[in-house]
Amino acid sequence: MHDLAERFAADGYRFPLAVLSPAEAAAAAEQYPLFQARAREVFGSEQRFKAHLLVGWLDALVHDPRVLDPVSRILGPDLLLWSSDFFVKPPRDPGYVSFHQDTTYAGLEPFDGIVNAWIALTPSRKANGCLKVVAGSHRFGQLPHTNTHAAGNMLFYGQEAALEIDPAKVVDMELDPGEMSLHHMAIVHGSQANTSDTPRMGVVLRFIRPSVRQTKGPDSATLVRGTDRFGHFEHEPRPDHDWSPAAIAAFRAAIDRPSALG
Ligand code: NI
Repeated sequence: MHDLAERFAADGYRFPLAVLSPAEAAAAAEQYPLFQARAREVFGSEQRFKAHLLVGWLDALVHDPRVLDPVSRILGPDLLLWSSDFFVKPPRDPGYVSFHQDTTYAGLEPFDGIVNAWIALTPSRKANGCLKVVAGSHRFGQLPHTNTHAAGNMLFYGQEAALEIDPAKVVDMELDPGEMSLHHMAIVHGSQANTSDTPRMGVVLRFIRPSVRQTKGPDSATLVRGTDRFGHFEHEPRPDHDWSPAAIAAFRAAIDRPSALG
């Protein structure tokens, strides 16, 4: 139990952790294109953030004890979900992610109160652009970033951390469908393009302790375990059923806040 938290604190990441069966991961992967088809109908565009506010299958995943138990070993018994984020690379997609820290724009403090959980719905391998981290780089503090706006960079600003990367420290977090990796909010990370014929489909869940503060202004989160004794975040409602008017209204309100910036 303690080992997971200690090694996460030392290295800034842990993997692989088995959370879903291969059949459950395949069922979720089948839901993804259906979700986006409906999103195009309802909103006129695909949606990447906070889909757990709209559909029961993702709401169930973000409350699943198999996901929450390892996160609680690091963050404790009270958990808010700050954001969920689909991260999909189609076959032969040139999109890549430059090395960066998610702390740069998120506005959340302190960094140690946040754990990112990346769940693979399809195989996530070096060849299809799995997440890679720079071991121990979460201990460097906030690094300066340059907004490169480079072609093919999937990040909004094409931001890149000012860090000379030691190739020996780069860890490819390869996962089978249904496996999860955990990474620290301040760890330097990125991913290559998908050069294979296999889609890379994952969802990243960003969990915070209720004591974490948002420095960018009012924000919301979903209470997924325990109690919130701080009240720093407005609590989001769970969907009563898929795509209900109430769920769509709650989703629209939530994605106007900083937590939908990823
Ligand atoms: Ni990132």
